[in-house]
Amino acid sequence: MIRVSASGVNRPDVLQRKGAYPAPAGASDLPGLEVSGVVEGGDAAAMADAGLHIGQRVVALVSGGGYAQYCAAPAGQCLPAPEGWSDAEAASLPETVFTVWSNVFERGRLQAGETLLIQGGSSGIGVTAIQLAKAAGATVIVTAGSDAKCAACLALGADHAINYRSQDFAAEVLRLTDNRGVDVVLDMVAGDYVEKEVGVLAEDGRLVIIAVQGGVQSAINAGLVLRKRLTITGSTLRARSVAFKSALAKACQAAVWPWIAQGKVKPVLYRTFAAGDAAQAHALMESNAHIGKIVLTWGDV
Ligand SMILES: NC(=O)c1ccc[n+]([C@@H]2O[C@H](COP(=O)([O-])OP(=O)(O)OC[C@H]3O[C@@H](n4cnc5c(N)ncnc54)[C@H](OP(=O)(O)O)[C@@H]3O)[C@@H](O)[C@H]2O)c1
Repeated sequence: MIRVSASGVNRPDVLQRKGAYPAPAGASDLPGLEVSGVVEGGDAAAMADAGLHIGQRVVALVSGGGYAQYCAAPAGQCLPAPEGWSDAEAASLPETVFTVWSNVFERGRLQAGETLLIQGGSSGIGVTAIQLAKAAGATVIVTAGSDAKCAACLALGADHAINYRSQDFAAEVLRLTDNRGVDVVLDMVAGDYVEKEVGVLAEDGRLVIIAVQGGVQSAINAGLVLRKRLTITGSTLRARSVAFKSALAKACQAAVWPWIAQGKVKPVLYRTFAAGDAAQAHALMESNAHIGKIVLTWGDV
């Protein structure tokens, strides 16, 4: 049981509010997939197994119920809050780090020296993906919907940024890679992007789809899939088992927490709102004006 200090806002919360993304069976139907706070109590054996103690500052990935002053989380899905990060900064961490690690590094198998294309580089997911991929030694190309968003992605370490509203991202990616293409694509658009992504993947490339903002139907050139030996995959984190998420937490702690301690991964907070103003936080997210994360804080509720 965590006494919540801050709750991260994620696009899936907006979809849930609109009725398009119901809570999985057994999960709280309150929104909220990540929190920071202090361990208030819990099963002693499970807490000992996870190395947790009462009074510890933690961050947690949850399947729902994060928009609340108290939130129950499986012990294995809690990790120590990074030292030096505020409560709001810490709350911005779990959902994007777990999603990016699982999809870019586990499913997408991104390696040092490879090139990653991130669709939506200025999103909460995108700013984390840029930093983790750079920390891992990859070259990063992003797309974003304005020049200001492109500049923010470059400032975070992206090597190239493409304004997809004024440029054809596929032609730009091929130009930037001397027609070789990219090794991994992290896609949160799908729809007609998939055909173009298959076109810009290098040999043995991997396409990882994590959202379908552009629609679920895509036409692809299947000949390219076999000629280039491509892998098309994807996943959604929320419905996965506690065992899966607990193993993922361990993997993130081993790989990402040292990068945080070394200052290679930093919080990118766009704005915080008092939790009572959650509706304004959602309106901001739906405006798409934000760069990075939006967080709710509970101190003044
Ligand atoms: N599969 C999973 O496990 C999982 C987990 C968490 C989140 N997600 C998904 O990942 C996405 C990002 O989540 P978030 O919380 O980081 O939300 P967010 O900050 O609101 O990001 C949404 C992003 O989508 C970008 N976008 C929309 N259309 C685009 C297009 N045609 N080309 C390039 N970018 C485009 C927007 O960029 P512009 O404003 O620049 O257009 C915006 O940055 C959401 O779709 C969410 O549902 C999936």
